[in-house]
Amino acid sequence: MKSPRIFVPNDATAVACGADRVARKLEAGLLARGITADITRNGSRGLFWLEPLIEVETERGRVGYGPVKPSDIEDLLHAGILHGADHPLCVGVVEEIPYLKKQTRLTFARIGIIDPLSLTDYKAHGGYRGLERAITLGPSATVEEVVESGLRGRGGAGFPTGIKWRTVAAAPADQRYIVCNADEGDSGTFADRLIMEADPFCLIEGMTIAGLAVGATKGYVYSRSEYPLAFVVMEKAIEKAREAGLLGDNILGSGLAFDMEMRMGAGAYVCGEETALLESLEGKRGLVRAKPPLPAHKGLFQKPTVINNLVSLATVPVILDKGGKYYRDFGMGRSRGTMPIQIAGNIKFGGLFETAFGIPLGELVYDIGGGTASGRPVKAVQAGGPLGAYLPTHQFDTPFDYEAFTAKDALIGHGGLVVFDDTADLADMARFAMEFCAHESCGKCTPCRIGSTRGVETLDKVIAGEKREQNLALLTDLCHTMKLGSLCALGGFTPYPVLSALNHFPEDFGVAPKLPAAAE
Ligand SMILES: Cc1cc2nc3c(=O)[nH]c(=O)nc-3n(C[C@H](O)[C@H](O)[C@H](O)COP(=O)(O)O)c2cc1C
Ligand code: SF4
Repeated sequence: MKSPRIFVPNDATAVACGADRVARKLEAGLLARGITADITRNGSRGLFWLEPLIEVETERGRVGYGPVKPSDIEDLLHAGILHGADHPLCVGVVEEIPYLKKQTRLTFARIGIIDPLSLTDYKAHGGYRGLERAITLGPSATVEEVVESGLRGRGGAGFPTGIKWRTVAAAPADQRYIVCNADEGDSGTFADRLIMEADPFCLIEGMTIAGLAVGATKGYVYSRSEYPLAFVVMEKAIEKAREAGLLGDNILGSGLAFDMEMRMGAGAYVCGEETALLESLEGKRGLVRAKPPLPAHKGLFQKPTVINNLVSLATVPVILDKGGKYYRDFGMGRSRGTMPIQIAGNIKFGGLFETAFGIPLGELVYDIGGGTASGRPVKAVQAGGPLGAYLPTHQFDTPFDYEAFTAKDALIGHGGLVVFDDTADLADMARFAMEFCAHESCGKCTPCRIGSTRGVETLDKVIAGEKREQNLALLTDLCHTMKLGSLCALGGFTPYPVLSALNHFPEDFGVAPKLPAAAE
C-alpha cells in the first residue's frame, strides 16, 4: 500500500525540536504496516510552537499534527492520521490556522509548502516566472519594475532597492557583483535562514534577476557559521540550478550569464554591516570602510556592487512575476509591500508573520503572538535587533512602518521583535546594549571603540547608585557623542536601546531622570 504524501519539516528550528527523530519513527511505523512511506522533508511554516508539525495531504487539504514527539507516532498512526483523522494533536487544515490565514505571504509564499530542493515543486508554485519575465523585459525595465514596487531594503536601513540597482547599473565597469547579505545578526531574527533552508531557489532566482538587471555576472551569498544547514541546502540548490541551466553561461537559453557561490563568515555582528562584509568577503578582517565611495560605485574588489539583504533579494521574484504595482498596493505610506515579522523572546506563539506594513505593534504582540510565554504582563519589546529601541506598552499603537518607528526613535531593522515580561530589568538591558557594542565594535572609530567601554562603566556606577545624577548626565552626553560621531550604525545606534530604556523605565535605574531630548 502507498501512503499519501506526508510532510515533516527539515529546517533548523524543526530539527532542533526533534523533527529528524519524528521522521525516522514515522518511516519505521509505516514500514511495519507494509505502507511505502512518502515522506517529504519540507521547511517549517514558521509556526514554531507547533514544531515538529507533521502534515498529511487529504481531500480537505493538508491536515496538521503538532507538536509531535517520536513517542506520539504509534498513537497517531493508530488513530488514522493518513486519512486526516482527528486526534488531540490535530490542528486541522493547516492553511486555516488563524496565525497563517491572517498573513499575506508574498516573499514566503512557498515556505513550508514545497520540498526545498525540488525544482519541480518550486516551478509548480510560481517559481522562475519572475526570471522569465525579467529576461523578456530586459535590464532597465527590470530595474524600473523594482523601483515601481517601492521595495526598501529589509536589512535595516530601508534604502529603496530599485534606486540602488539603478546606481550600480549606471556605474561604468568591466565587472559588477551581486552580494547577498545573509549574515542575519539581529537578535530574534531568522527570516534569512528560513528562506535558505526552506525555499533556496527563491533566493537564487532573486539574485539571478538582480544580476541580469544590473549587468553583474557573479554573485556571493555571505552567511554565518551558525547557519550550517542553510549553507548545505543552498550549495545543493545552486548545483541543481546549474544543472538545469538556471545558473551559468546561458540562463534559460537567453545567452545571458550569471553564477553564484556561498561564503561563510565566522559570525561577527559587524560583518553584517555592508562594507565590513565586503572586507570579510575579500578575505580580510571585518573592518568598516569609510563612505564614500558607496559599494554601488566601489564595492567588492572595488567594483560596482549591489549589496542587498537576503529578504530584499528573495522578494524580487514575486515583484517581477506579479508586477511592481501589485506589490506596492500592499502597505502604508512609504513602506510598501509586506514584511516578514519575526516574533521572538518571551512570547507564547513565536514565529514568522508576513504581513503588509501598517499593522500595530500591539496587535503583533497580543493578538498574533498571544502575549508572553510566561503568562506575565508584557513590559517592553525590542524591535529591530540589538541597536533598536525598547518600546513600552503605551507605544504599542505604533504601526509597523519605517517612518512611524523612526518618529519614536525606534527601528524596524530586519523585522525582529523580542518580547520581555515585567520581570525584565531594563537597566540591565541598557548595560547589555553597551557591552554588546564594546564586544562587537570593529575598533575603527573612537566614539564606538572607547565610548562603549566607558558606557558600560558608567552604567555600572548608575546601577550601583554611585553619583547617579552625575553619571546619568555623563551617560546621556556619551550617547549623543556616539550617535553623532560614530562611523557606522553599530556605534551610532547603540544609544537608542540605552536611551529608550532610560527614558521609559527610569525606575529600573533607581531614579526618575529628566527625559533625554532624543528619546520620546
Ligand atoms: C552593525 C551592523 C550590522 C548589520 N547587519 C546586517 C545583517 O546582518 N544583515 C543585513 O542584511 N544587513 C545588515 N546591516 C545593514 C547593511 O549594512 C546594509 O544596509 C544592508 O545589507 C543593505 O541591504 P538592503 O538595502 O537590502 O537592506 C547591518 C548594519 C550594521 C551597521
Ligand atoms: S561605529 Fe564601531 S563598528 Fe562602526 S566603524 Fe566605528 S568602531 Fe567600527
